[in-house]
Amino acid sequence: MTPIQGSTGQRQLIDAEPVLKLEGITKRFPGVVALNKVDFDVRPGEVHALLGENGAGKSTLMKVLAGKHQADEGTIILSGEEMAFENPKHAKRAGVVLIHQEQSLVPGMTVAENIYLGSLPKKWGNRVDWPKLREDTNRILETLKCSFQHDDLVGSLSIAKKQMVEIARALVFTPRVVVFDEPTASLTDHEKPVLYDIIRNLQKQGVGIVYISHRMDEIFHLSHRISVLRDGEYTGTVNTCDTNEDEVTRMMIGRSLELDHASKPTEFGENMLELRNLSVRRIFEDVSFKVRKGEIVGMYGLVGAGRSEVAETIFGLRGYTAGEVVMDGEVVNFRNTHDAVVKGIALVPEDRKEQGLVLGMNCRDNMTLASLSSVSSMGFMKGLAELSVYDKYHQAMKIKSPSWRQKVGNLSGGNQQKIVIGKWLHTHPKLLILDEPTRGIDVGSKAEIHALVKDLAKSGYAVLVISSEMPEVLGLSNRIIAMYEGRVTAEFDGDSVSEDVLVQAITGQNTEQRASPKPEAV
Ligand SMILES: Nc1ncnc2c1ncn2[C@@H]1O[C@H](COP(=O)(O)OP(=O)(O)OP(=O)(O)O)[C@@H](O)[C@H]1O
Ligand SMILES: [Mg+2]
Repeated sequence: MTPIQGSTGQRQLIDAEPVLKLEGITKRFPGVVALNKVDFDVRPGEVHALLGENGAGKSTLMKVLAGKHQADEGTIILSGEEMAFENPKHAKRAGVVLIHQEQSLVPGMTVAENIYLGSLPKKWGNRVDWPKLREDTNRILETLKCSFQHDDLVGSLSIAKKQMVEIARALVFTPRVVVFDEPTASLTDHEKPVLYDIIRNLQKQGVGIVYISHRMDEIFHLSHRISVLRDGEYTGTVNTCDTNEDEVTRMMIGRSLELDHASKPTEFGENMLELRNLSVRRIFEDVSFKVRKGEIVGMYGLVGAGRSEVAETIFGLRGYTAGEVVMDGEVVNFRNTHDAVVKGIALVPEDRKEQGLVLGMNCRDNMTLASLSSVSSMGFMKGLAELSVYDKYHQAMKIKSPSWRQKVGNLSGGNQQKIVIGKWLHTHPKLLILDEPTRGIDVGSKAEIHALVKDLAKSGYAVLVISSEMPEVLGLSNRIIAMYEGRVTAEFDGDSVSEDVLVQAITGQNTEQRASPKPEAV
């Protein structure tokens, strides 16, 4: 497990009266009881972790808490007073803020406008007080040690920075309870300490924190108590210091987790992909590596190192300015993704909401979107064929949805991710590129997806995995390409490289003295 930096130190159990209590919360959606009589509370100054499998009801409970959904039954009590939050603004003014799993920022607006959206400071004549907006924003950005400016367009920021804008938004009103719904899903190990510091500061001020994550290391590092939901039911609360991962996993999935013992692939064929000194001006430079048939190659680096951009270039989303891409023995320079798909490449993108799914469309249609020719005949869709594709991946990845008719936008975050993976697997690619494949995926499904990827490689797929999670990269990869600031700094054998050496390679340290990279694969 990656050591967590920015420790919060020893945690004393907080024994105060809860600042917030949820009692008997029930929430139904068509075809789903998302929450069934759930109890939950948060004490001032504590971190209360909320755990559960994908689709267990965590985000829904928090949306009820923060006024985004109204419960069908149950009560919300804030500082002893029963509340009925009609909308998020109402909850925010009362001091209850939710930092969303799905980011909800307006890309075309500036950082300042996004932070104060709906509560812009006004002066006489109801006109926006721009100097005050600037000043207030700068103050918050300073508290959070953000490296971007108040007038930067949000659309131009990286996912990690957008996450910071979301957090900044929560601090506009003095919060009493802040809910973080998978806040580190898009942060790398190096960016997380900043978030932990923010949480520690909020705690010191007596703010109650709810923390949702699928990462056990974080949960055990940060939380005082852990509550678990399973299929919309509350299964219990334990003190973090009295429990362990195995017990919590059993509470979540009803059994201990069989660890992913599936072995890595060992037999490799010809080169499927070869990059030769590939460059995209001002983005990355001189990137060279190979992926063979049957092999899993991991790309490890910090956010901004250029890994996703390399993947996008291979896939035809960006043109390259120098070098060559050789795919299956042929030099290629795709002008669009369609050509890349035809040549046998699939990319499961990092940002599923923007690049992976049509949220208003149902599960079945999303699943077959990248392989329409296999489910249509003379321009007509074959409903049954489509359905059998959906069924196959629905079962293989245990996708939780009331039916194939459900709009993908209504699925839980982790289940959306599974649909994207299924959709690309069904194109039967020769080269499968996975960019952060298990972000937001629960521990059980994560092991299933890892096993699936290894099986795919063993059946002859060439696989390129981009991940910011060290255990994932080490657990999956035959070889690891380390990137730093747009360059490949080293190539390692996936079984023998140490964590320290990998960290050095992705942070640009000791590049000359680093343990000698593995000689190039044959
Ligand atoms: N707006 C909605 N309409 C219909 N069903 C919904 C809606 N929002 C959530 N659901 C359903 O409620 C259930 C709980 O979803 P929720 O998003 O709360 O899960 P979660 O525990 O946050 O999962 P994850 O870890 O994947 O984020 C799921 O079955 C989901 O499909
Ligand atoms: Mg969720």
